[in-house]
Amino acid sequence: MSPLRVLAARLQQLVDRIDPQAGRYRMLFESSPLPMWVLDDESLRFVAVNDAALRLYGYSRDEFLGMSASDLRRHDERRDFLRNEPGGSVYRGVFRHARKNGEPLDIDGVGHLVGWRGRRARLVVINDITERQRTQQALEHVNRELELSHERLRALSRRLLEVQEEERGRLARDLHDDIGQALTALKIQLESLHRAGEPALQARVAEGVETVQHTLERVRQLSLSLRPPQLDDLGLAAALRSHLDRQAGVAGLAANFDASEAPQDIEPDTETACFRVAQEAINNVLRHARAHAVWVRLFMAGGRLALSVRDDGRGFDLEAVRRRGASGASLGLIGMEERIALAGGSFELRAAPGQGTVLLATFPLRRQGSEQAA
Ligand SMILES: Nc1ncnc2c1ncn2[C@@H]1O[C@H](COP(=O)(O)OP(=O)(O)OP(=O)(O)O)[C@@H](O)[C@H]1O
Ligand SMILES: [Mg+2]
Repeated sequence: MSPLRVLAARLQQLVDRIDPQAGRYRMLFESSPLPMWVLDDESLRFVAVNDAALRLYGYSRDEFLGMSASDLRRHDERRDFLRNEPGGSVYRGVFRHARKNGEPLDIDGVGHLVGWRGRRARLVVINDITERQRTQQALEHVNRELELSHERLRALSRRLLEVQEEERGRLARDLHDDIGQALTALKIQLESLHRAGEPALQARVAEGVETVQHTLERVRQLSLSLRPPQLDDLGLAAALRSHLDRQAGVAGLAANFDASEAPQDIEPDTETACFRVAQEAINNVLRHARAHAVWVRLFMAGGRLALSVRDDGRGFDLEAVRRRGASGASLGLIGMEERIALAGGSFELRAAPGQGTVLLATFPLRRQGSEQAA
């Protein structure tokens, strides 16, 4: 040990003896598991460092004491003083530092202004937050990825519904125009054959006419349920009324329809979404409810288009059905929710065993944000 160092040590012992607290603080400093150092407030050079800091950074004591604060920093653009306490005696900052071997270190440092051998100095306590920062960044990354895949899924769902709608429209037209016309021609031919034909064949020809008539009716029904032309020509209310009457008529159910308070000028996409939701709800009433009557209403609610479909049937256990739906057993309700969500609407279903079912859906009249999501 150099004579100067011996002298310094001796002096320190004297200082410690004069102020017994100083010895205790020094012990705390040296043995603390938290990395700490003392910086000269003016030159920002290190004047003391504890073992924990040396272990964290990988420098020897001499190397460390030969450096200043900026030598530890890697990218000081991330320097970020979170606060400067009133009175200016506490500093706090998050820094990106580097170990001696170049590995990055993220630290959260708290500095206190202290007196150090007659000079102003900063006693800095370091918290290594490298892992925490890494985890946080990984989480943020995962969240961004999740958000992205949700967006992709939404765009895909929307596109799928559009394609399905176009395809249904095309099929409905083909069925109605091509097949329908061919069947009509066949029927006319059979009828003329029936008039001119031999008496022995007449009964069979009449049977053929009946079969063709029946098939024509089926084709017409199919075409209508695929894409009712009223939806494009006369609008939602007319299409829904005719669909309800047709379906309820077949099932022998009393149908009540009210669109007296329905808004005008609904966007075509919203009309289609609302029609499809109503179609599935009515379908569910016919298939599951064992109801006597069904009420369908289109109206305005809070500036939105609202649809309610109510029945007086046997109702059902909503929770149990939700659980079953989650496993993919049935898709009707899930499809409805999806369609309504894509249209920016809301969906509410009230059902209890023995108490009928009410479905309420609302749709915004002017769709917002649909362009960027598509
Ligand atoms: N109006 C209703 N009255 C009684 N039960 C209903 C009604 N609507 C739905 N349910 C019940 O909810 C279940 C789920 O309906 P959902 O429409 O999701 O599927 P599904 O009609 O069974 O099959 P699909 O996927 O063909 O629509 C039905 O199986 C039925 O038990
Ligand atoms: Mg269904």
